[in-house]
Amino acid sequence: MTVAPSPPARTLDVHLRASLREFNTFGLPAQAATLVRIASDADVRRVLAHPDYGRAPKFVLGGGSNIVLTRDVEAVVLKVEVAGRRLVEAREDAWIVESGAGEDWHELVAWTLQQGWPGLENLALIPGTVGAAPVQNIGAYGVELKDRFESLDAVDLVTGRTVTLDAAACRFGYRDSVFKQGGFEGLAGKSLITRVRLRLPRPWQPVLGYLDLERKRAETGIDQPDARTIFDWVCAIRRAKLPDPAVVGNAGSFFKNPVVSAEQCRDIIDRDPEIVHYPLPDGSCKLAAGWLIDACGWKGKSVGRAGVYDKQALVLVNRGGASGAEVLTLARAIQESVYGRFGIRLEPEPVIF
Ligand code: EPU
Repeated sequence: MTVAPSPPARTLDVHLRASLREFNTFGLPAQAATLVRIASDADVRRVLAHPDYGRAPKFVLGGGSNIVLTRDVEAVVLKVEVAGRRLVEAREDAWIVESGAGEDWHELVAWTLQQGWPGLENLALIPGTVGAAPVQNIGAYGVELKDRFESLDAVDLVTGRTVTLDAAACRFGYRDSVFKQGGFEGLAGKSLITRVRLRLPRPWQPVLGYLDLERKRAETGIDQPDARTIFDWVCAIRRAKLPDPAVVGNAGSFFKNPVVSAEQCRDIIDRDPEIVHYPLPDGSCKLAAGWLIDACGWKGKSVGRAGVYDKQALVLVNRGGASGAEVLTLARAIQESVYGRFGIRLEPEPVIF
C-alpha cells in the first residue's frame, strides 16, 4: 500500500540580519538579527515550535509607525503580515467588519466607506497597520478606536493559543491598552494580534465638534456632511499639518497630551492665559502638548538630524539620516524645556526601544 505523502509544512519566511529601516516610519537605522514574516496564527505557532526561535525573546512589529528604534534588535522580530478583510455580520444596530492585523489602517478605512459601512472616517490617514490600532488605541478628531471596537484575536507567544479579547479585556485608555502594559497583568511582548473586528454603528452618526472639523464646516458651508465628506476633510486637515511618513520620517505625535489637576490647570492659565486646554468631566484638564512645545520655541528647530516639524510642534521628524539616539536627545531637550517653563513632564507616545 502506498501512502500519499503529506503536503510539505509551510516553512517559515525567515530573514537574517534584516534592516529595519524600511519597517519603521521614522526611517531609523536598526537591524534585526532574525526577522520572521507572519502571515497567519499557524506561522506564530511554527515560530514557537522552532528549535532556535521557540524559546527566544520575541519582538512584535506591525507597520512600525509608533516606534523609535534606538538600537539593533536581538529578539526574534515577528513582522505581522496577516491579510484579509471581510464583513462578518450585518446586524440591525451595526456592521461588524474583520481585518487581518497586517492590513494598512487607512486602506481599511477607505474600503469600509466604499462598501457603504461608514464610521471610521474620523480615523482616516493614520499611518500604520490594523493590528497596531488597538495597541495604542489610535484616536483622532473626536473618535478613538475603542469607540468602534468589537473584539480581536491574538496568539499567546508562550502557549501558541489563539484567544479572543473584548474591549474590557483590552483595557483601552488614552493612547494605551493592555498590549502596551507590562508586568504580570499586562500583555506587552506576550501576544501577537492577528485579527481585529470593528463595530460600525447603524444608523451612522457623524462625529463633528472637533475644532478643525467645525472650521471646515464653516468654510464650506456644509452643515450636515456625509461620511465621505468628513473623510475628505480629515485627510485635508492631516495633510496640511502632519508630515507624510513616506516623505519625511516621523511617528505621529511624539508626546501624549498631559492631563493635569484642575488646580494645576488654573495656576497655568493664570500664568499663560493663551494655553490650549480641554476640561475633562472629572474636573481635571488635558493640555495641548503641541502648544506647550511651540510656546517653548521648538517649532522648526533641530538637534543633529532630528527636528521638530514646522507645522505641528508635537511631531518630531527625521531630517534625513537621523539615528534613534538623536531623536531621543531632541525629545529629552524638549521635555526639559517644557518642564522648566511649565512644570509639566511630557510622556512619549511611541514605544521607545
Ligand atoms: N498647537 C499649537 N502649536 C503646535 C501644535 C498644536 O499651538 O505646534 C495647538 C493647536 O493650535 C491646537 C492644539 O494645540 O489648538 C491641539 O492641536 P491639534 O488639534 O493638532 O491636536 P493634538 O492635540 O496636537 C491630537 C492627537 C493626534 C490627532 C489630533 C486630532 C495626541 C498625542 N495627538 O493631537 O494624534 O491626530 O489630536 O485629533 O493625542 C497621534 O497620536 O500620533 C496623532 C497624530
